[in-house]
Parts: sequence; C-alpha cells; structure tokens
Amino acid sequence: MKKNKERLISLLASSKNAYISGENLSEELQVTRTSIWKYIKELKEEGYEIEAIRKKGYMLKQIPLHLSESVLKWDLKTAFIGQNIIYRPVLSSTQDMAHELARSGCEAGTLVIADKQTSGRGRLNREWESNHSGGIWMSLVLRPEIAPNNAPQLTLLSAVAVSNAIEKLLAIDVQIKWPNDIFLHNKKLAGILTEMQAEVDKINYLVIGIGINVNQQIEVFGEELQSKVISLKELLDQEIDRKTFIHCILEEFELLYNDYLENGFKPIQKSWVDKAYKIGEEISLKTPKKNFKAIFEGIEHDGSLLVENSNGDIEKIYSAEIDW
Ligand code: BTN
Repeated sequence: MKKNKERLISLLASSKNAYISGENLSEELQVTRTSIWKYIKELKEEGYEIEAIRKKGYMLKQIPLHLSESVLKWDLKTAFIGQNIIYRPVLSSTQDMAHELARSGCEAGTLVIADKQTSGRGRLNREWESNHSGGIWMSLVLRPEIAPNNAPQLTLLSAVAVSNAIEKLLAIDVQIKWPNDIFLHNKKLAGILTEMQAEVDKINYLVIGIGINVNQQIEVFGEELQSKVISLKELLDQEIDRKTFIHCILEEFELLYNDYLENGFKPIQKSWVDKAYKIGEEISLKTPKKNFKAIFEGIEHDGSLLVENSNGDIEKIYSAEIDW
C-alpha cells in the first residue's frame, strides 16, 4: 500500500504539467480506480496539492513543505544514500533509532530523520538542543569496508558534503571548524557526530548524525547559545525548503562517498582544507600534556590536526580543547 502511494507520487511527478487519467494510473499500478481515488485523497490530506479534472485526470501541483517519508523519497536522485528513509515527527535522538536499525541489519545508506529530538546529543556527550522544529536532524547508517581508525575521515567527508550542499543550493560560503562544525559568520550553523560499532580491525557500522539550524528563529535556543549559533533563516530572512536541502546533502554525500571509496581520502582532505576555519592563523590549544599557541596548518590523512608550534615544529593533535 505504501509502495503504491510512492509509485503514484512518482507517476504524477514524472508527467510534469500534464494530467494523467485515473484509468492510466490504475493500469500502471495494477489497482482499481477506487484505490487510486483513495490514495489521491490520502495524499491531499498529507498536504499534496493535486488537481483533479473530470475526463482529464490528475495533475500534481505542489508537494507539501512539511517532511514525511513520501515527500523525502520523491525525486531523490541517489543510488543508495537515503533510499531507505525513516521519518518520525519526534524521536529521543535520530542516533538511537539509527543504531537500533543498524544492529538489526538495515541496509547501508538508511537515513533516520526527525522534526524534533527530545534528547539530541552532540560530541563529547554534550546536549544538542533540538526539541523544536525547523532544523534538520538526521542520522545516516553506513557500512564502509575501511579500517576503524579511518572512520574520522567520514566525519570530515560529511562536513564537506554539508558545506558543498549549502554553497550549491544557497550560494553561501561556509567554513568547517575542526573537526566537525560548520561555521557561518563565526557562529555555529551545523554539527556532525560520528558513532561507530566496530571490532579491532572491522567496522560493523557507522552512524553519522547531522544537525543543521535551518528555519529556526534564534529565540528557540537557550540564552547561553543564542550568541553562538546561527540559522539559515536568520541569515537569509526566508524559509528554506528542507526537503530540497536534504536531497542536495544526500546527493552530495553520495558523490563524495563513492569518490572516497574509489580514490581514498586525498580529494576530501583537499576540499576540507579549502574550507577550513582559521587555517594559517594562530590558535590556542589545551592538550592533556600542555597548553600552547600554534599556527593551524591543516589536517592529516587520519583526520588529526596539524599545527606549527613556536619552535617551528609540526605537531599532530588528535584531541584538544581549542580556543579559536
Ligand atoms: C556536535 O556538533 O557536537 C554534533 C551535533 C550532532 C547533532 C545531530 S542532530 C541528528 C543526530 N541526532 C543526535 O542526537 N545528534 C545528531
């Protein structure tokens, strides 16, 4: 039944600006005309604008702005990223559901999306404020055949994919703050959280969580965050179509991911460095061993940070508190 409705949307969508008769639709889907009429009624209730004219048939005028599985699947041009989509209005965290699905064997590329998260989480177990709608909160399950210690490369790849999508769709230049923040005008626009289930030499699965501030007013965030975050709506003073934006990210992600599996990390590394926040500038680092100032030079192939200390030596930093 669900598949029929999805196929019906595809059929209507594929005949742009033309009517398709009920008879043709019922033949294509191999269901009765009454079933077609029932599906059309349901789609209208879900927010699809479908014009019905006697003797001519049906024409799709507008898909709904709110998210749903069928809206998200419609016109998605990927081979596998996001082809299996689970959408829920509210979840504790899309990460939790993605882990559950991954443990029970879901296919690689499965995407979980929610409008609100009651316990969204960020890196280092920090809270990720997402118990309001308007943002994009989504988690992607991957099963790459790479060494577990290369997994951070996929966080960096995700940051490049999100940045590319923002630049392509909205013509806005963003920067990536190591390791995984997307920054705009010195404020946080998006964050990425990679979680992994692995053995010593094999990744069972990865869950890449992506959180982006899209259509929120800044007032929905707690007072402490308000001066540190930014949303696209706040910047552009207009609502962004989240479905188109999500598609753009998924399509961009798939391109980069396939390139990565075929050609390795080098091309991603270059794109990442081209967008790096404060590259070539002095930053203050606090590591378990010392606090020091250094020039931010780039990233290594394993995703670690490269800095030049005051003696002119290059140091590799895996984890540090950084004062940017
Ligand atoms: C960070 O910057 O610390 C990473 C934030 C990641 C947030 C996303 S929103 C979708 C997914 N679900 C979560 O609970 N977290 C990630």
